Amino acid sequence: MTQAASATTECSDAPAWVRHEGLKRWVAEIARRVKPERVVWCDGSQHEYDRLCAELVAGGTFIRLNEHLRPNSYLARSHPSDVARMEDRTFICSAKEDDAGPTNNWVDPRTMRQTLERLFDGCMRGRTMYVVPFSMGPIGSHIAQIGVEISDSAYVVVNMRIMTRMGRVVAEWLGDNGDFVPCVHSVGAPLAPAQEDVAWPCNEAEKWIVHFPESREIWSYGSGYGGNALLGKKCLALRIASVMARDEGWLAEHMLILGVESPQGEKSYVSAAFPSACGKTNFSMMVPPASFNGWKVTTIGEDIAWIKPGHDGRFYAINPEAGFFGVAPGTSEATNPNAMQSLRANVIFTNVALTPAGDVWWEDMTREPPVRLIDWQGKEWTPGCGRPAAHPNARFTVSASQCPSMDPKWEDPGGVPISAFVFGGRRSSTIPLVVEAPSWEDGVYMGATLGSETTAAITGKVGVVRRDPMAMIAFCGYHMGDYFAHWLRMGKAVRHPPRIFRVNWFRRDASGKFVWPGFSENMRVLAWIVERCHGRAQAAPNALGLMPRYEDLGWAGLEMFGRERFAELAQVDQLAWQHELGAHDELFAKLAAKLPRELAARRAQLHQKLAA
Ligand code: GTP
Ligand code: SPV
Ligand code: MN
Repeated sequence: MTQAASATTECSDAPAWVRHEGLKRWVAEIARRVKPERVVWCDGSQHEYDRLCAELVAGGTFIRLNEHLRPNSYLARSHPSDVARMEDRTFICSAKEDDAGPTNNWVDPRTMRQTLERLFDGCMRGRTMYVVPFSMGPIGSHIAQIGVEISDSAYVVVNMRIMTRMGRVVAEWLGDNGDFVPCVHSVGAPLAPAQEDVAWPCNEAEKWIVHFPESREIWSYGSGYGGNALLGKKCLALRIASVMARDEGWLAEHMLILGVESPQGEKSYVSAAFPSACGKTNFSMMVPPASFNGWKVTTIGEDIAWIKPGHDGRFYAINPEAGFFGVAPGTSEATNPNAMQSLRANVIFTNVALTPAGDVWWEDMTREPPVRLIDWQGKEWTPGCGRPAAHPNARFTVSASQCPSMDPKWEDPGGVPISAFVFGGRRSSTIPLVVEAPSWEDGVYMGATLGSETTAAITGKVGVVRRDPMAMIAFCGYHMGDYFAHWLRMGKAVRHPPRIFRVNWFRRDASGKFVWPGFSENMRVLAWIVERCHGRAQAAPNALGLMPRYEDLGWAGLEMFGRERFAELAQVDQLAWQHELGAHDELFAKLAAKLPRELAARRAQLHQKLAA
């Protein structure tokens, strides 16, 4: 033990490119608590990435895929208890309970710090403690933020290298006294001397994802999966950043950002919030249908947007991430060819199926499933065996730079100007294809009352409608009522606030089939949205807002989708809307103490308009 302890002290000596004494002290202090076998500062080089991947292969966490079919790519299979974000294990520990609000789990920070003392004491015994400096946003951007993640998972390190700008360049930019968000992550599975490791270490008994919004700290214990462990993503870029954004007058949102170029060469940018696994990745890299000659869609980001008021009175948005941690099932040449192109090489797949040739497969990747597979749990799989081959929340990690649809400005440190905000959810009924809000306040109401059927991206029941305001229910680091007030204020912070729209690709008919073809056909709605922003397309007012009539959308190439089908998508059902308003009331009642008056007033107006 003495030897291990002295090795720790020795190896925690930072490399020369780390000049920040505060950072070094913090790393040394964490090392004393978690007692790792060794400390490794990550430089972010390709050499380091390849070495860690080789170690993950040797340790059984990674399977190297067929070099010809999927060059430089790996498959990881997680533990069945560790497959998605765990909202019930996620905590916002603000000093006052009231600041976390009723939609977050809150624990008194003093109590939580005691819990963390217990959890992290010696939790990295027998493991390597990696130090990962990372930037959310292009290095040097005034909108970017630096974090440093300490983790005992090499899987996390290699994923962070794809998802963020990471390593030596970031430490150098941080300089000797820059600000960083400290993030501590452990899989919570210390190794006794000579104890053999498992392929996916995690803690089956306890998982904790903890945020201290005032001190801007993140502590995660027990899980190695996705947003639970890649702490730059949901923890920093949404939960902590939303608090920074409230305090500093900007927006940190669960939004994709895309560019649309019209046949006339006019460029517009749109940012859209859909809940997890509800189509952000697909929409952000959509290929317009052939009949939309001359229209082009480009990608800035597919999950998170940081948006600041610009000097010209418009909002400017950046994508704080450098890669995609995207849902694999449902991704195919037909639904998302740009994602499929991105996935040809240099990918980490998690919880997808393995083909006999050493390639990957997931549900709906091809029309016909392969005759034989190894499923995400490493078991033999045949079509019709009754189990999915890939976990429904199986994911790919890949650099955004590999995506053919990336916008030339996707790494522009100044961001891109936003013309429209779109809110969307997964709703089998009630919600029309597209509605424009007549005003900023109406749009905030639309976002605030967004509902969506739950997906496999979170643990728990799938397919139940829940309120997911602005797709941020799991990601807002403070009181949701204050967040609505912040949104209302931000509409006045710029001279040209974006127009706001709500969409729903997921309405089903009596037989349970999606009415709207979706995917590339969503271009018809996107083109209408952009044209509305430029004051060109027509719309008709109704109780919900402004909606296109059949003749207001372009139908070339989709003539078979007639007026009757469109009417199904546009229908406003009185009874369904009574239920819908009831659900708005439930959310608003929960938030009553801090609900902005403007929103309560809009609820009353909507009731009157629907009754008229
Ligand atoms: P997170 O990464 O979890 O935040 O999710 P995301 O919003 O990026 O989700 P993604 O784009 O990966 O959506 C995944 C699921 O949505 C897949 O099952 C897709 O098939 C489905 N999907 C996406 N777009 C459409 C659409 O236009 N219509 C229909 N019916 N399904 C869609
Ligand atoms: C989501 O759940 O919204 C995701 C995946 O984008 S994760 O990073 O795991 O949160
Ligand atoms: Mn997401």
